[in-house]
Parts: sequence; structure tokens; C-alpha cells
Amino acid sequence: MAEITLEHITKRFPDGSLAVNDFNLDITDGEFVILVGPSGCGKSTTLNMIAGLEDITSGELRIGGQVVNNKTPKDRDIAMVFQSYALYPHMTVRENMGFALKLAKTPPNVIKEKVEEAARILDLTQHLDRRPANLSGGQRQRVAMGRAIVRDPAAFLMDEPLSNLDAKLRVQTRTEVSRLQRRLGTTMVYVTHDQTEALTLGDRVAVMRTGVLQQAATPKELYDRPVNLFVAGFIGSPAMNFLSGTLEDGMLRTSLGDFRLGDRLRREVERSGSGREVIVGLRPENFEDVALVSPDNRPHGITLRATIDVLESLGSDVFVYFAREVGQGVNVAELEELAQDSGRADSGASGETIVARLDAATRISEGQNAELWVDARAMHIFDPATGRNLSLGDDDGGAASVQAVPDRADAREPQAPDPAAGSGGVQAAPGQAGPAGEAT
Ligand SMILES: Nc1ncnc2c1ncn2[C@@H]1O[C@H](COP(=O)(O)OP(=O)(O)OP(=O)(O)O)[C@@H](O)[C@H]1O
Ligand SMILES: [Mg+2]
Repeated sequence: MAEITLEHITKRFPDGSLAVNDFNLDITDGEFVILVGPSGCGKSTTLNMIAGLEDITSGELRIGGQVVNNKTPKDRDIAMVFQSYALYPHMTVRENMGFALKLAKTPPNVIKEKVEEAARILDLTQHLDRRPANLSGGQRQRVAMGRAIVRDPAAFLMDEPLSNLDAKLRVQTRTEVSRLQRRLGTTMVYVTHDQTEALTLGDRVAVMRTGVLQQAATPKELYDRPVNLFVAGFIGSPAMNFLSGTLEDGMLRTSLGDFRLGDRLRREVERSGSGREVIVGLRPENFEDVALVSPDNRPHGITLRATIDVLESLGSDVFVYFAREVGQGVNVAELEELAQDSGRADSGASGETIVARLDAATRISEGQNAELWVDARAMHIFDPATGRNLSLGDDDGGAASVQAVPDRADAREPQAPDPAAGSGGVQAAPGQAGPAGEAT
């Protein structure tokens, strides 16, 4: 087992392209870390540098405390599993799994023992004497992992090992990989471009974009506290909704309605010098059918009216889509790039469609002019110039700091900011409906 440290790791290919730029990450012993990001962002290059398959242009790579920049792959004590896990077709599962050990002149009884143990872990015991052609895709994938396991390496490196499997098998094998890693307790670095896979598998997820590490954190942290617009838009499905906001007299005006900024957030925005225009981010689940929101909760959000264009019922949830102006002044170029990067050109990111996820109990129907509620506490505010998430602040680790004001539906005194939501919230403004807010 080993810890892996990447310090200022940079990769420039001979043709001048900068594939990985000043990458810093400490992977602890036994940790399961996922590298995720859009195609071409440098995930494989990073993994290949750890494996020793690609030279490091500058920076220092340590495995188990030792600098390994100049060590060959076989001296690094790591095992790699690729997307194309070519098995030898003429060999049985047993022979495939033991092949590396045989090459290393391991005694046959030791090979037998190790292969059978790996087969037990991977549930391949009854297939040991079959050929790859007679196995399912998932079983073949497990044989490829078995080849890595028998070597008992200090770390596993996996590059999109499941992408050849169909969707159902991928989900199943994903769970197996996760269980396997826990069971073996071996450090693992796993590459995928699938954010769902990333969130479900890892202890920690490192999000990359154009060779630059954006944020490395637990799945929950990435989801709740994305450091910038890119991470916010990349993580989560359906994607976070973005719209423009204008700051005026401590108020945040959006096409959904108006919110009052808390002190901390106002200071933060002013200090960032980002001007009056911001990008507001709201996840689909921050919306709800107002009829299903308890009176206690309502003051934390605002209500709005929207004509439901499309409604999709998934049984457990209902997704509704409605149009909203993204607004002027928003840096649409940034949003479009984001949508492209995350392979979701048709997401709400750059368009005008807002996606809301409602409780399955909702009675809202397609075409209806429905009354929705949006939880302002979960709102994110981004600087359109830098993409930085202004609502995180940089002092405390508190929750995203937006707070709603009671809407007119239950006009009451504005509430004191919820201490749990941090001190710098946004509060919805009573009696102040935005252009799209409910009109009174
Ligand atoms: N040998 C090479 N010479 C020049 N540029 C390269 C070379 N290999 C990769 N690149 C470039 O480096 C960048 C990162 O490539 P990399 O393969 O690491 O991306 P990735 O994140 O693994 O993408 P994918 O999800 O498509 O596998 C890309 O822009 C790619 O074109
Ligand atoms: Mg790759």
C-alpha cells in the first residue's frame, strides 16, 4: 500500500501542447480517488505519469514517500487496468490471471494460490478454466482486474475500465469495483469522464478541466460547495440551472424573483469587484411544488409562477421544464463553453429552460401555469468574469449562504438568518416579486 503525491506536476508534449498544468494532489494510503473531467482534459495523461508510462515534464511524483519521476513502470509497484483490457484469447482465465506472475518466475504453487484467491474475491472461481470468448463482458472485465490483483501492488490505476460495458453491467461492475477496493484497502486512482460514476465510486473526486485541477473533494462537498461555475455545472445530473442576476441595493434580482443578500455575501461580492452582474446557480432539486412545501419551510424560499412546457414522471420524482430568460449581461460565452465541455450542449446551462425536480406527489401537469417554490438557501452566486463561487466565502466552512425572505404567500416578518445556513445569506424580500415572480 502507498500514498501517492503529485506536486506541481506538469506535462508538455513534444508538439508543445500542455496536457497537465501544475497539478497538486495528495492521495493517502488506501484512498480511492477519481479523476473526472471532459474528454481531453488530461486525465489519462495524469494517470500515465503516475504509472510511469509518460514522462513528467516538471514537478515531483512520490509513491510511498519515494520520488519516482525516473523509475520505470515495473519499479513503481503499481498495477494498471485499461479500458481495452486485452485478454489472451487462447489462454484460460487461470492462465490469463497468472501470466504476469509466470513471467516474473513466481513458483507455480504460489501462482495457483494467488490466482485462486483473486478468483474468490472476484467471484470467478467457477470460470477459471474457461476461455475469455466464453465469458460475459463483465466477467472479462473482472479477469482483467484479477490480473492486477494477483500482483498485490501498492496501488491500482484504472483508466475508464468500465466504458466497454453496457449501461446495466456498468452499474453492477461499478459496485463491485467499489466493494473490491474497500476489501483490499489498496490505494486506487480511477479515471472516468462520467460524473455519476465519479460521485458514486470515490472517497474523493478530482475534477479537471483543460489540464488544470479545479477541485478535489468528497462527492458531497463537490456537490454542495463547488468552487466555481465549471465544477457546479459538471457535477450533478440534471445539471445545475444558471441564470443571470443583477445586484442592486443589496438585492439580487433574477428572472425568478428577488432575493435579499445577507451581509457577508454582499461584502464578498463587493470585495470581488465583480460588478453588478452575477450568475446564479440553482439545482433542480432546489425547486418544489409550492403545495408540497411546509409553512415552516416556505420563508426560506420564494414562489414563482411558471408555465410547465414538459413534465417527466420517473416514478420517484417528477421533472418539470419551463422557460425563463437567462437574462442579459450574463456571460453566456462561459456558460456555452461549460455546456460543451460537459458534453451537454442541450442542458439548461446555456439555454433558457429551467429544470426542476419535484416530489412525486405533485399534482402539477403539463401546460399548467404552476406555482413553484425555490429554496434560496441552496443558491450559488458566481462571478461571471472568473467563474468563482462567491457564495462560499473563504472564511468558514458553512453552508452556501443564500437565504430567502418570506414570500407574499405567507407574508410575515422577515426571519432572522438561520444560523445553520451561515451568516452571509441572501434573504428573499417580502413584497418584492421579480419580473417573473408572482404578481400582486
Ligand atoms: N502524445 C501526445 N502528443 C500531443 N498531445 C497529446 C498526446 N497525448 C495526448 N495529448 C493531448 O493532451 C490532452 C490530454 O489528453 P488525455 O488523453 O490525457 O485526455 P483525457 O482526459 O484522458 O481524455 P479522454 O476522456 O478523451 O480519454 C489532449 O488535448 C490530447 O490531445
Ligand atoms: Mg483518457
